[in-house]
Amino acid sequence: MPAISVSTPGKIILCGEHAVVYRQPAIAIPVQQVHTNTKIFAHPTSPKGEIVVRSESIGIDGKLENLPPKHPILTALDLVKSHFGIDSFPACEIRITSTIPIASGLGSSASVSVSLITAMTEFLGHPLAAEEINTLAFEVEKIHHGNPSGVDNTVVTFNRPVYFIRDELIEFIEVSVPLYFVIANTGIHGSTSEAVEKVRLNWQNNLTEYEKYFSQIGQITNSIRDHLQSGAVQEIGKLMSQNHSILQSMQVSCPELDKLVDTALKAGAFGAKLSGGGLGGNMIALVPPEISNLVAHELRNVGAISTIEMVLPVTKRG
Ligand code: PMV
Repeated sequence: MPAISVSTPGKIILCGEHAVVYRQPAIAIPVQQVHTNTKIFAHPTSPKGEIVVRSESIGIDGKLENLPPKHPILTALDLVKSHFGIDSFPACEIRITSTIPIASGLGSSASVSVSLITAMTEFLGHPLAAEEINTLAFEVEKIHHGNPSGVDNTVVTFNRPVYFIRDELIEFIEVSVPLYFVIANTGIHGSTSEAVEKVRLNWQNNLTEYEKYFSQIGQITNSIRDHLQSGAVQEIGKLMSQNHSILQSMQVSCPELDKLVDTALKAGAFGAKLSGGGLGGNMIALVPPEISNLVAHELRNVGAISTIEMVLPVTKRG
């Protein structure tokens, strides 16, 4: 029996990615079909402070001290140490497994950080509040992404749909009708930091144009929030597709993502868009429930390496 076992979900961004880095709102939703699990086993007979980390998905199998400086796992654990003002942890073995594909816009890095930080603080006997875990996980995200908005760690930590404005607002949104999504993976690794950097350079070179894109995306996100409350599903779909067009103009889509978006729309989706950093990774389609299976099938037919069908249940703000 592990002393501790913590699971955290993946996530999709319903709308607002990239613009959220520039303080426009975004809406993100946890995805329970994929997750990270961290287990911690006490090793009372090992030398004090000896930590062994095993994770096939991250490609680590050995002592923590052998990880390169600034490795996200090392950083996450160092942040926990500084938070509690301690020099070392009780000897233990940490096992991390994840079913979240990496570099695909499903929040794998945030999910690993949140589950590891949560598990270690529970192992120490001092579980932290979600707000504190979120703050520490955000610091780790900075290593992965360079200039993250914080939306990924926030939705994963709170495990609820969020309306998020960088440094300003975390609001748990109200969803008045269930929404059915198909998520499809292009199989292409999309580097979030590369995509964020590309947008930054484009923005610097075309300030007016990009400020306009960001504010259009912000307006789309606000309208989607209203429609989530009123239950106007078809309107949400239309706005998602508009969001995708703007992301295309911002050069963070790619032919494979566009093909999946087109296929979903032709198969009858209400709307579809890339989700996350782009340049590969996943797309999401909002679908009528009765054709969810068909859309997923069509997406795999045209090259998606995997699909997830999920429902966002009705939630009340709170
Ligand atoms: O980690 P990803 O690929 O899901 O992208 C996160 C969303 C971005 O807006 C592109 C970056 C950010 O930090 O908000």
